[in-house]
Amino acid sequence: MTVTIVGAQLGDEGKGGVVDIYGEAADVVVRYQGGDNAGHTVVHDGETYKLSLVPSGAVRGNVGVLGNGCVVNPATLFDEIDELRERGLEPDVRVAERAHVILPYHRVIDGVEEDEKADLAAGTTKRGIGPTYEDKAGRRGVRVGDLLDPGVLRERLEYVVPQKRALATEVFGIDLEGEVRDAFDIEVLFETYREFGERLAAEGMTVDCGTFLQERIDDGEAVMLEGAQGTSLDIDHGVYPYVTSSHPTAGGATVGTGLGPTVIGEGEVIGIVKAYLSRVGTGPLPTELGGVEGQTPDYDAETGADDDAEELATYIRDEGGEYGTVTGRPRRVGWLDLPMLRHAARTSGFTAIVVNHVDTLAGLDEVKVGHSYTMRTRDGEERTLTTVPPTTEQWARCEANLRTFDGWPEADWAAVAEDGWDALPEAARAYLEYVAGELDVPIYAVGVGPGREETVVREDPFA
Ligand code: IMP
Repeated sequence: MTVTIVGAQLGDEGKGGVVDIYGEAADVVVRYQGGDNAGHTVVHDGETYKLSLVPSGAVRGNVGVLGNGCVVNPATLFDEIDELRERGLEPDVRVAERAHVILPYHRVIDGVEEDEKADLAAGTTKRGIGPTYEDKAGRRGVRVGDLLDPGVLRERLEYVVPQKRALATEVFGIDLEGEVRDAFDIEVLFETYREFGERLAAEGMTVDCGTFLQERIDDGEAVMLEGAQGTSLDIDHGVYPYVTSSHPTAGGATVGTGLGPTVIGEGEVIGIVKAYLSRVGTGPLPTELGGVEGQTPDYDAETGADDDAEELATYIRDEGGEYGTVTGRPRRVGWLDLPMLRHAARTSGFTAIVVNHVDTLAGLDEVKVGHSYTMRTRDGEERTLTTVPPTTEQWARCEANLRTFDGWPEADWAAVAEDGWDALPEAARAYLEYVAGELDVPIYAVGVGPGREETVVREDPFA
């Protein structure tokens, strides 16, 4: 049986915590898209682990698989595995031979292209994710399986690297000096990546992903499919072009692992929702509170938004720790956006949701949600929408119609988690029931704090 975990919003919904709780019953945890642009924190036996590529289940003794839909930076992979080993763990990580490899030139190009794009820049993580998926679609990528065969690796590099050099120097005007020169040097790349291939082979890490997983399922094992990022960052269903280059939605779970849609459809697809919104990067956000310079479109830091909105935004940002883990930059925040959630629930066919960060909103007098949008058409007409419009320009012309709920007080959240659903403050339950009713799915768990034990668990999808 499979359980697929999908981010319902813009990433950072707390998927790692859910994988951590439900993953205990899983034998295998698979990532199906993205690469080391993700970031999850796993707390296990009192130790905190920060991972960006290795599936979080590997910390807990599950087999962790990077599916064919992932893009793999072998340097990050081995750094993370080595660190886990140094800390006394024995992670069992497998990598799909069909997964594509992030090469150093992808990172260089990601950084430079972002600078060139100006207003169209998605604010990428500069890990080379987009350029690697571009090469995959352009049929000039290097796959994990190619690293195992020096002849094939050399042939691929000899074809693609001259093109990358030309792109770097002639289009982007990059000076190929020092480390940057090595990123475009066939011999250096060949030696480095051949060695990565030798290590992958020596440790028996590569698999034919779909076959490997199907055999496990046929043997009665439980498989968890772990999405990274979120629905509104999906390259088809998100806020294009301010998206990532893969499919965080449940369709990505089938293409990105080699398991059939019917196999995944027999299991559960759980949408992970944060009780409010946060966003790294630009693009429309109709329920945004206040703004963040450089990320909120047309935001003027001098005049700001209205003071109450800025104050609320700061409160939620501080309570929720909505600051970049590396840069410390504030993230954009906003009220929960129901059109965005309806879109996510349909796109992935959620069978249930988990709502996180309910404790973060505690202490507010009232809590709002964007129930629907009023969109101004180009002709100046107004239309009510209950889901997100297809183009980003239309989305930018949407104003949220807010509904107001009573706020809920602070509580002893550890006790609430222990005592269960009925122990949640009544107003919080009313808020959650509204969300579940609108999406027509049950709530399987509610996150009321950062720790794993601070979760009200109502259903175990593997049970
Ligand atoms: P990329 O995935 O590095 O190409 O970045 C594309 C967009 O996705 C940017 O707006 C990033 O901020 C966003 N993004 C990528 N990974 C994450 C994530 O794990 N959480 C939240 N946003 C992300």
